[in-house]
Formats: sequence, C-alpha cells, structure tokens
Amino acid sequence: MVSEHAAQVLVASNRGPVSYSLSEDGSLASKRGGGGLVSGLSAVDDKLWVCAALGDGDREAVRRGVGEPGVRMLDIDADVHADAYNGIANSVLWFVHHLLYQTPVEPVFDAEFRRQWASYETYNRAFAEALAEEAGPGAAVLVQDYHLALVPGLLRELRPDLRIGHFSHTPWAPVDYFRLLPDDIGEQLLRGILGADRAAFLTRRWADAFISCCTEILGGTGRTRIGVHGLGADAEFLRRRAHEADVDDRMAALREQVGGDGDRRTIVRVDRTELSKNIVRGLHAYRALLDTRPEWRERVVHVAFAYPSRQDLAVYREYTAAVQTLADEINATYGTPGWTPVVLHVKDDFARSLAAYRLADVALVNPIRDGMNLVAKEVPVVSDRGCVLVLSREAGAHEELGADAIVVNPYDVTATAAALHEALSMESGERAERCERLAAAATALPPQQWFLDQLEALRRD
Ligand code: F6P
Repeated sequence: MVSEHAAQVLVASNRGPVSYSLSEDGSLASKRGGGGLVSGLSAVDDKLWVCAALGDGDREAVRRGVGEPGVRMLDIDADVHADAYNGIANSVLWFVHHLLYQTPVEPVFDAEFRRQWASYETYNRAFAEALAEEAGPGAAVLVQDYHLALVPGLLRELRPDLRIGHFSHTPWAPVDYFRLLPDDIGEQLLRGILGADRAAFLTRRWADAFISCCTEILGGTGRTRIGVHGLGADAEFLRRRAHEADVDDRMAALREQVGGDGDRRTIVRVDRTELSKNIVRGLHAYRALLDTRPEWRERVVHVAFAYPSRQDLAVYREYTAAVQTLADEINATYGTPGWTPVVLHVKDDFARSLAAYRLADVALVNPIRDGMNLVAKEVPVVSDRGCVLVLSREAGAHEELGADAIVVNPYDVTATAAALHEALSMESGERAERCERLAAAATALPPQQWFLDQLEALRRD
C-alpha cells in the first residue's frame, strides 16, 4: 500500500541549508548555504531537512522559534555537539577516512575518547528521534555522512516502516586502516550504516572499501544495498553565476594582482584550508617549479584560495599558519617589484572563486584523499579559455576525469612540479579539447538528478 506520506523526503545532516548569526544589537541574520544537497533537494516538494544548530546564532534562532519552512534545527547541548563534531567526527572519523594520522603517536583511544564517543551516540540519537517524530509512514530518509553514521541503525529500531538511505561524502578507509579504531567502535559504525536499506558513496572505490570492511569485520553487508552516485557540477547555475557583475569585478581585481599586462599564466587552487587538500605540498611543488624551471619566473602566478575551516581544532589552525608562512617564504625568495609569485586569499568569497575559475590556465587539485572534489569539476565548466587540470589520483573525481587530466601522486612534490610545467606548456588546441571533455564528464550527473537517482533507487531496491 502506498501511504500518503510515501512521497515525503527527509534529509539529515550536521550542517543544514541555513545558518544564523547574532549581531551585537541582538538581531539575527540568516545565510543560505549552497552545495549539491541544497540543489538536489530542490527537486522534491514534500521535504524536511533536519540539521544541528552549529553556533550561538543557530541556537538563538531555535530558542526564538525563528526558522525556515522545511528546516528543523536541533538544539543539541553545545558540549555534546562539540565532542561529537570536533572530537569524534572531525578528529577521528575524518582522520580515519582520509588517512591523516601520524600513526607512531596518534590516534590514542583512551577514556577521553570514550567520553566523546558517548556524546557522538547522544548526538546521533537526537537525530534519530527527531527523524522518527517527523517522518510520515513509509517516508524516505536520507542520512548524510560520517557525522551521522549511527543514525540509520537507531532510526530503524524506532521506525521500521521507513526507507532509510545513508550517503558518504568522504572516502571510505581501507580495511587495514579502518582497523585502527577500537574493534567495538568499528563494528558499531558499520552496523550503524548497515541499518540503512541503502548505503551510497561517491565512487566505486569508496563503496568497495566499505564492502571490504563489512566483509572482513562483520562477514558481509547483510540486507543493505550498496550504491554509487558520482555527484557532478551544476553547469547551468555555474555558467550563469560566473557571468554576473560581481564576478567581473573580482576578475578585474585579480588580473591586477596577477599583473604582467595579461601575459602571465595562472595556476589556480580553491580549497577549504583542510589537511587532506594538501595545500602545503602544492606550494612546495610550485616552489620546485620556480626553482627547477626558472623560465617560469615572472611568467606565472599561483592564485591560491585557502578558506577558513574547522578553526576550533588546533591542527587546522596550525595548518592554516603553515600555508601562510610558506606562501610568504616563496614570495620573499622569488618575488620581484613587479611580480608576486603567490597570491593567497584566506577570506571566503564565492564570486572571487568563480573569477579565479574563469581566469585559470591550470587548476591544481592535489588532495591526499578526497571523496570527490567538486572544484576539479567546476573549473573546466567555467573556464574562459580552457584550463588544464592537474589532478590527484586520490581524489574521487579522478575516476571520471583522470583520462583528460594530468594525474599526480599527491605526495610526490617533484612529480607535481613536473606536472605543473607540463600543464603550463600545453598547446592551446589540446588544452581546449581536453577541457571540453572534462566539462562534459564533470556535468554528467547534475545535483538534482544525483539526488533523484538516490531516491528512486532507495524506493525501488
Ligand atoms: O564533504 C564532507 C564534509 O564534511 C561535509 O559533510 C561538510 O559539510 C563539509 O565537508 C565541510 O566541513 P564542515 O561542515 O566541517 O565545515
């Protein structure tokens, strides 16, 4: 029987589609976020997005009953949220899936870890209870990411009638690395996700890694189906937005900073200042290029945008400082009165990112590991003159874009410098042809279709 709620769709994620900031005069300002999920969900009518209040502004909004239709923000105790988000999700699970530990000294799974894990359970339970309360009979619930790995299992117990999906936006760890986690915790995470009818990933590689963990640790994935949905770039939105007046203004300002009367090439990168994005090695590679190929001095500028991220964590603050220090060092070593080798911006500005995409001769996307990396997909779509993509083989996007990119091992600074040289030297015809193919591959699965495919598969399987 198809119930009247069967078309209802609930999404659950830590970060929601809107956030609030509190001004000194006590007023609340709201800001809408972007991303694949926001545009994906816009394809659906009957929907509810359950998310966590992340800061004081969000919490105040919940208390005042301020909110948007279709969004329920959970005011989970701030300490519980901090332990779950900073302590477990971003300092343990993110590190496991991106292979970020320096294993001789970390991780340390001690009593403090267990205390934070209890908060992670509480936070996941709060989501499961809210979803159980809000969902109509037979509704579809799409749970997002490593923050909420326990939700499918908890929700299944509360509401066996629901169709539950889980989607991982990150890579999944290889089984030997996943086994760094205490055995009971690893099992709990896998069983949590296996509470879903379908567990889906951005690439086959991450899906296979998850299946290996389930097979070796639990003996299989049980009744849970495994899916792969490679989120693509939103070409229509990007092409329109990249030609609005504010982007043109940013292009003029960037051209000025690049200098050289329009003759200089640009190597562009746009990232959160995130350990896995490998920004520091990217700068080392650029320095090696200037060192070993002096013919590029004065003729190229590295336009690097490294936007603030997870600044509650000391290791991210230190990484941010390391990026700044190295950029300054390169400028001090090689810069001349008319040439700044690295133009670094650390303040988030979407219009300026699009301007850099349009100007890029080369896009450097060299993460040590990445679920997908949408920048790799967005730059070829927006680029004015066609741009060469230097792409890490460890980015999920490599599966779809590798054939037309210059592919690098992200740890190999010398090889990355050589790849930058090759990219800068590529003849314009080949560059334009490759870029066209990259843009076609990058837009094969636009966000709305990506979302609808998941929904359809969840209802069907
Ligand atoms: O794509 C992975 C992800 O963790 C998302 O879940 C998240 O919204 C994004 O990266 C940015 O991270 P954060 O929400 O911690 O700022």
